[in-house]
Amino acid sequence: MRLRTALTERLGVALPILGAPMAGVAHGALARAVTEGGGLGMVGVGSADPAELIAREAAAASAGGHLPFGIGLMAWALGDRPELLDETVAARPTLVSVSFGSPGPYVEVLHDAGILVASQVQDRAGAIAAAEAGVDIVVAQGTDAGGHTGTVGTLPLLQIVLDAVDPPVVAAGGIATARGLAAVLAAGAAGAWVGTCLLACPEARTNPAARAKVLAAGETDTILTRVFDVAQGIGWPEGFAGRALRNRFTDAWYGRETELVGDADARQRLAEARGADDFDTAYIYAGQAVGLVRRSLPAAQVVRDLGEAAASLLAERLDVLLGEGPRS
Ligand SMILES: Cc1cc2nc3c(=O)[nH]c(=O)nc-3n(C[C@H](O)[C@H](O)[C@H](O)COP(=O)(O)O)c2cc1C
Repeated sequence: MRLRTALTERLGVALPILGAPMAGVAHGALARAVTEGGGLGMVGVGSADPAELIAREAAAASAGGHLPFGIGLMAWALGDRPELLDETVAARPTLVSVSFGSPGPYVEVLHDAGILVASQVQDRAGAIAAAEAGVDIVVAQGTDAGGHTGTVGTLPLLQIVLDAVDPPVVAAGGIATARGLAAVLAAGAAGAWVGTCLLACPEARTNPAARAKVLAAGETDTILTRVFDVAQGIGWPEGFAGRALRNRFTDAWYGRETELVGDADARQRLAEARGADDFDTAYIYAGQAVGLVRRSLPAAQVVRDLGEAAASLLAERLDVLLGEGPRS
């Protein structure tokens, strides 16, 4: 099964589906499984991850150099940690995303190494800046997304970005079923960038207790919040909050971030909860599509099913919308 777009042509993959780089969750095993399902899997690199993680997880993602894969970096972290970029280039991925900050300073070095560059953007200005910086793929990341993101919903953002820039645009945020994939492809996106729908896959490095929470959560159970970053003293730029499952910690501290900075006990409680896998306090980043994740299936199957069902749905809908038969 193939679904052809500018993305599949550039990446040399069968399906227009990218497995989101999720720090701490999307490592080599998940990336490899996504690629084996026909998409392109990406390894997420966190701002505090050791640089050695990159070569190790790249080897797993590529099955020892045989499969294409991607790596996702955070632009704001690279100034202090240039070794993350060096190790990424050395790992020879097909695609690197540089998101949450300007990709500009990194595009040339990646292109010189023969690596395609993507960047997740959250508004029109960010999309235009990424395109001007020379990225090959612009990822319109709506606020529906899990993890760090902006405030504009995926659907309005996708329409804005498709009109604003020339490079292929990929949609991210809230896509977890064939209906979502078919919708963004029909709108003109070159593909979908999916994270939340992979959180319950056995290849994800999701803790079993966290996985159970993901499977039980509904679409109204997430919150866009900075409380976990504030409590941990992580240097995320102010414009990016993280979408996570609501829990006791967000109930207690959302809107009280300034107080939280000065509350060492609360910060200690979060650190202890993380150590104890207590997700009533510790965070689970997940998007609104968590309400669509009901089973723990292998990632290759998730990707294959998404692609196949989207192709059927598109064919069916086109037939109904443009064909001669009865309307529905
Ligand atoms: C648990 C989790 C961790 C994430 N970590 C990263 C990351 O390290 N780097 C990154 O560029 N995006 C990260 N993201 C955002 C994803 O790249 C992507 O935008 C998002 O998952 C797409 O929306 P969806 O979750 O609704 O599929 C993360 C998302 C989740 C759910």
